[in-house]
Amino acid sequence: MKQTQFLITSRRFARQRLMLSRIVGVAVALSVGNMSRSQTVQNAISSTRTMTNSPSALLSMRTMHALRTLAAQRDLRIGAAVNSSALRDDKNYRETLAREFSIVTPEYVMKMAPLRPSRDTFFWDDADALVDFAQKHQMQIHGHTLVWHQDVPQWIEKNEKSWTRETLSAVLREHIFAVVGRYKGRIKIWDVVNEAVGDDAKMRDTIWRRVIGDDYIALAFRWAHEADPDAILLYNDYNAEGLGAKSDAVFNLVRDLKNEGVPINGVGLQMHFSLENPLNSADFAANMKRLGDLKLSVHVTELDIRVPEPITPQKLDEQGLQFSRVLETFLAAPNRGTFTFWGFSDGKSWIPSFFKGYNAGLLFDQNYKPKPSYYQIARVLKAPTN
Ligand code: XIL
Repeated sequence: MKQTQFLITSRRFARQRLMLSRIVGVAVALSVGNMSRSQTVQNAISSTRTMTNSPSALLSMRTMHALRTLAAQRDLRIGAAVNSSALRDDKNYRETLAREFSIVTPEYVMKMAPLRPSRDTFFWDDADALVDFAQKHQMQIHGHTLVWHQDVPQWIEKNEKSWTRETLSAVLREHIFAVVGRYKGRIKIWDVVNEAVGDDAKMRDTIWRRVIGDDYIALAFRWAHEADPDAILLYNDYNAEGLGAKSDAVFNLVRDLKNEGVPINGVGLQMHFSLENPLNSADFAANMKRLGDLKLSVHVTELDIRVPEPITPQKLDEQGLQFSRVLETFLAAPNRGTFTFWGFSDGKSWIPSFFKGYNAGLLFDQNYKPKPSYYQIARVLKAPTN
């Protein structure tokens, strides 16, 4: 091919590629959430440009929609736990969160200790900021959590001996009414009680159980229901996703609550896994089925799959496959609720601090670049339903 001919052809190809990237960019822009049009278009064009050097990447760009858009087509809310300082300080964090997710959970700021530094003081600012952000971006909110053995305020814990069943019940009741009441009609789902079953599959020994008694769980659900009769009320726990002693203990607990007429609507399965210890899909399906037989919905509430260091491309590919299996099994269950990751960027994850030698448990890397797991989740959401 003559030099001039070659130049014309390559220039024409470049023009076509740029035009196509603009078209795709606008298509992506039209399909993503609520970012401002100009930002979205710019982001889309720049990300399109970097990706248009390969036809398959272009194809994926052409069909790439935000996870929340794909999830809505499956009648699903897909969510993430939110780090409130990142929400306040990091524009990239806010944009990614608003674009990709349709339900949010406060990772910390609605727990009792941060919300209630003293009996007569509530610190609402961070919780209010998250609720306002969520409502601005048409996101639902998953309240977390009303009763837990961790993050109990010092003014409660350090005076355990001085509390009686009556006085501590009054504190817990007023807390639930204050928090659920404040967000009535805005927070649709609550983790009412968190992790009340111990790792030994017995009821956990907590201040609430020691002072109030075993019925603190039923009381908490009744108070939450009284405070907002329309809220979906969950019992939330970890290592109860498949089948086994702890899962059986959680099943027995919620079965008994249902039989006593306690207003519980569902179970939150936290789903904190490690790459080398994946969820057994068949057990997960069986567990969802038996909870469904109790007329309880099942929500994935804190999904992450931590990867043992060193992090390699092969491990991240395997992580993507494991995420896809969790979502496929979940989507197949008639009593599925919402599907939430415990964060979305590896740079804002509890994993490195809580699980030494592990990292990279989420869908985006620390620079908010989608990982193989993101594309696996998108693939499953796009898969044709039978
Ligand atoms: C964790 C947060 O991710 C950490 O940042 C915090 O320091 C401790 O709590 N199960 C739960 C969550 O229900 O509230 C916990 O979140 C993780 C385990």
